[in-house]
Amino acid sequence: MAAVASVFVSDGSTAAGGAKAAGGDEKSTNAVQWSLLRLPDIAAGAYITSCSNGDGVVLSTTVRGRRFALKAEVLVHSAAPPDSALARERKVREHLGRNSNIASMFWYTELSLPAAEVLTAAAAASSADTTAEEAAAFARGLISALPADHSLRRRVADAASAGATLTLRLGVFEYGGKTMAGMSREGAVWDAATIANILAGIAAALHHCQSVGVVHRDVQPENILCMPDGRWVLNDFGSAALADPAELTVPVSRSNVPAPGSPAFTAPEVHEGIQAAIDGRATAIKYAKADVWSLGAVLFVLAHGSHPWPGATASARDRRRGTTQRLFAPQTL
Ligand SMILES: Nc1ncnc2c1ncn2[C@@H]1O[C@H](COP(=O)(O)OP(=O)(O)O)[C@@H](O)[C@H]1O
Ligand SMILES: [Mg+2]
Repeated sequence: MAAVASVFVSDGSTAAGGAKAAGGDEKSTNAVQWSLLRLPDIAAGAYITSCSNGDGVVLSTTVRGRRFALKAEVLVHSAAPPDSALARERKVREHLGRNSNIASMFWYTELSLPAAEVLTAAAAASSADTTAEEAAAFARGLISALPADHSLRRRVADAASAGATLTLRLGVFEYGGKTMAGMSREGAVWDAATIANILAGIAAALHHCQSVGVVHRDVQPENILCMPDGRWVLNDFGSAALADPAELTVPVSRSNVPAPGSPAFTAPEVHEGIQAAIDGRATAIKYAKADVWSLGAVLFVLAHGSHPWPGATASARDRRRGTTQRLFAPQTL
């Protein structure tokens, strides 16, 4: 009997296997519904929608007629699993709670597996732990679906020969129809009503974040989703941080250099703070206005059709090998 992972309800509470199934309010309805998510069901209809050169892959998947986005990360390590964008994202989202301007996170799980078992069907199948067996099959399918020259494939093979471990981290999110980046065309100007709608949705999301001491740090078109019901929501809290609640500052130093987000949408004081950290000058970056600045840059592009600083073109899209491909045949697990 396959184990059902515990459920992360996006207001921060967890419910194991539908144990909190009783009441009729929205939270317990979600707990019932999401507790039914199982890795084999998720994997059965999964397609890669986005895949970086690092550890992370985003999949779309349909479970019992409902579509979800699945963020998967495979981390290769020999001792304690390293921090990862998805682990940070979960922590921040627990802190954020539920908000209708932010794509919800429904489910999160984390499993450690010997790398060799992930690559060897026989070893995985002999596992007594059904969840580990399913997770190994999932990770194997995921790794083999990556482009042949993807660095993660080589790192997993090396880890298997070295007897190292993998940590598989998975988060299931509300699926957004399209990203703003996917809907943009170079030179095209968006209509005023849509721009106003985007501003309302994302400004409300940022207001909520700031009111609970969260800074997003990567507001850009790839992280803004248009939901099927017409809402514009903020997504991707993989770069977000819990800030000092009063000042919304985050300390940085040489051992703690934040990612710059998408350079073309990053405020000058953030670039300066990052440079100071790289140079070994410990400081605190003031993010209170920086996320709003990024939203302003997004709106400029929508209203003008091109970027205010044409030189600053390095977008996350350039760094990503975007492909959409079938990940698993339904019978894989
Ligand atoms: N909830 C979602 N609905 C639809 N597509 C998504 C969703 N989450 C991510 N994606 C797609 O995957 C891409 C990368 O996901 P994202 O969460 O931004 O992670 P990262 O930028 O850290 O890789 C997004 O730009 C988008 O194309
Ligand atoms: Mg992103």
